[in-house]
Amino acid sequence: MKFFVDTADTKEIADLAATGLLDGVTTNPSLIHKSGREFLDVVKEICGIVAGPVSAEVVALDHDGMMREAEILRKIADNVAVKVPLTIDGLKTCKKLTSDGTMVNVTLCFSANQALLAGKAGATFISPFVGRHDDVGFDGMELIADIRQIYDNYDFPTEILVASVRHPIHVLQSAKIGADVMTAPPAVIKALFNHPLTDKGIQGFLADWEKTGQKIG
Ligand code: E4P
Repeated sequence: MKFFVDTADTKEIADLAATGLLDGVTTNPSLIHKSGREFLDVVKEICGIVAGPVSAEVVALDHDGMMREAEILRKIADNVAVKVPLTIDGLKTCKKLTSDGTMVNVTLCFSANQALLAGKAGATFISPFVGRHDDVGFDGMELIADIRQIYDNYDFPTEILVASVRHPIHVLQSAKIGADVMTAPPAVIKALFNHPLTDKGIQGFLADWEKTGQKIG
């Protein structure tokens, strides 16, 4: 499963990229607002840090407006994935952009039927929002399992990008279901490395090593 980080904070992105485990980045207008930076500048900087797909979202709601914004976004770098909302105009834009070879991430997916439409529109990525789904009393992971089944039934190449990931259990469940990608905030990705028994084990080994009086090298 690929790991994308869901942030516009370039320092956090650079830190995670240095682990060699980061496959891409997702941003959205709220994350750009949080960064306090110019949208196009921050996307350009992120594309220079990470070689994988960097999602940058259009804000127009009509097809022509989305196409105009997409033209600007896709010129930033080859690894930009234009993010469009799951609406009729968004999927029309998706179809057009992917037939021209541009990566498209269809966002704000909350049903398996919406994901089916995105697959038919040739989306590169579909982003079902599991956390927001859980928030309103539905099981976000059930949605991921349904989309996996549908895409496998029809051999859709669209990658399932689990979004709105809130905690490590979402990551584990995504991997068990066979999602292609998950995108999570930096804190959730960092939490995956941690286990109290790992820390305890390191302390025990170091204490015993100290007693040997030896040095490596
Ligand atoms: C994904 O591309 C979105 O940016 C993101 O995962 C939304 O997550 P949120 O529900 O925590 O805002």
